[in-house]
Amino acid sequence: STKPRLPVLWINGLSCSCCTESFLRTAHPLAADIILSMIALDYQDTIMAAAGHQANETYEQAIEKYKGQYILALEGNVPMNEQGMYCIDGGKPFYEKLKMGVEHAKAVVAWGTCASWGCVQAASPNPTAATPLHKLFPNKPQIKVPGCPAIPEVMSAILTYIITYDRLPSLDSQGRPEMFYGVRVHDQCYRRAHFDAGQFVESWDDEGARSGLCLYKMGCKGPTTYNACPSTRWNNGVSFPIQSGHGCIGCSEQNFWDQQSFYDR
Ligand code: SF4
Ligand code: SF4
Ligand code: F3S
Repeated sequence: STKPRLPVLWINGLSCSCCTESFLRTAHPLAADIILSMIALDYQDTIMAAAGHQANETYEQAIEKYKGQYILALEGNVPMNEQGMYCIDGGKPFYEKLKMGVEHAKAVVAWGTCASWGCVQAASPNPTAATPLHKLFPNKPQIKVPGCPAIPEVMSAILTYIITYDRLPSLDSQGRPEMFYGVRVHDQCYRRAHFDAGQFVESWDDEGARSGLCLYKMGCKGPTTYNACPSTRWNNGVSFPIQSGHGCIGCSEQNFWDQQSFYDR
């Protein structure tokens, strides 16, 4: 196509980098095609060849070159305690790097639950004061793509949307794209008929678990979780947590670590 590639600068604060890992497994379109022909990924902490001072120079040059045109993608969040010393990047608090990138960006994308809500780093008592993007830059145009990690095809679809329409997709009241976060996991779940019929798994190795009954009594958070897992699925459409026999832990929801999501009945 003749469309110029969308410049994307992708930086990591406090993260596990698995949102990058997730994105790299995008199958439709292939991550390689996105990187080679749709976006100009001039800076990506995890996969770029440059390192150290050279990498930081690349970042500053890209900001200068694409001023007002680029998407700043944030993976992870920002520890604000102790003047930001829990995440030092190029000798400075990561917050400085983020601020520089946000300032000249056209819009900002918060990849994953870390950047969107805080995730595990912000779990009570949040010793580093890990802070998500929207709390630091509330007035910047931005989009949350929560999930731990975010779903690969959702990440690529959002970039594709921005490239195609030159605007952000329509967002819900929490700043998430409606097309992927508008429906509860529970309302798309293939086990839903069992929920409605009152047929539940009662223990991990019972007959109900083997025959695929509803996981609500095993702590499934599908009824309070908004994400596209049952429709897009994971691993190139193969499966998703509930299909593998475990309930949803609500990994795309705000404060899911503090909501007794793990093995709580
Ligand atoms: Fe890792 Fe989850 Fe944070 Fe993504 S949201 S960087 S997968 S901890
Ligand atoms: Fe709802 Fe979870 Fe039961 Fe599916 S397994 S119907 S999401 S409670
Ligand atoms: Fe996360 Fe639940 Fe999907 S745990 S991966 S939102 S099914």
